[in-house]
Amino acid sequence: MDKKCELIYEGKAKIIFANENPELVSIVFKDDATAFNAKKKQTFKGKGILNCSISSNIFDLLIKNKIPTHYIKKINENSILAKKVEIIPIEVVLRNIAYGSLCRQTDIEPGTNLKQPLIDFYYKNDNLNDPLLTSDRIFLLDLIEAEGLQKIKEITYKINNILKDFFLELNLTLVDFKLEFGKDSSGQIILADEFSPDNCRLWDRNTKNGKIESLDKDRFRNDLGDLIEAYSEIDNRINNFIGFT
Ligand code: TMP
Ligand code: ASP
Repeated sequence: MDKKCELIYEGKAKIIFANENPELVSIVFKDDATAFNAKKKQTFKGKGILNCSISSNIFDLLIKNKIPTHYIKKINENSILAKKVEIIPIEVVLRNIAYGSLCRQTDIEPGTNLKQPLIDFYYKNDNLNDPLLTSDRIFLLDLIEAEGLQKIKEITYKINNILKDFFLELNLTLVDFKLEFGKDSSGQIILADEFSPDNCRLWDRNTKNGKIESLDKDRFRNDLGDLIEAYSEIDNRINNFIGFT
């Protein structure tokens, strides 16, 4: 088999293929969506193309703002070329507004603006259902060293500042998001994975009768309406904004 096409890893929403350059990979965005650790599954025709477009534009913006990432370029409508990394098995969630699991696990009212952004770490382990971690557990499990964890927090806060302002320009509220980081061949910690409505919550600020409208994967998780319509809206707002700047 051509080495270029060798499948390295298939996840729930993306497939990673080897490249002739061993330091690179190509990543294909799938149309599949899962929720609740894949207990709920559905395929949405066109989701891969939309997420590839949205994530590529977001990574371009982050790179312009000096965030180190794995992203190199878009190869075609549903795939990108990226640096090969060793993924750190921690899902890094930043929350600006209380929603989702934070409200199920505490008595904070959904929709509460947090005094300051909250970072939660989860163990990226489907067999264990991605449990919430503490810093001590992260070090106990040797998932990353203290200095690396500090670097991840700093980059995550910086990304939040960049993206909160960016989405505000698009009349969207960035409620929360999940990031994944990896180590490149020189051991540097860089942002990996994707940034798309699959991994963040975006609320439309053009509210209808004061009702919050989710333009993200909550549409699928909570049966809130057409997912492709919401993702297309995000993609269109980003493309229009980029077109004007
Ligand atoms: P949560 O409220 O369910 O913990 O989700 C917080 C954020 O993380 C939300 O933007 C969705 C995202 N997320 C993922 O990207 N993958 C996951 O497996 C989960 C549980 C959440
Ligand atoms: N990552 C979750 C899953 O494993 C989906 C989610 O809630 O984002 O299905």
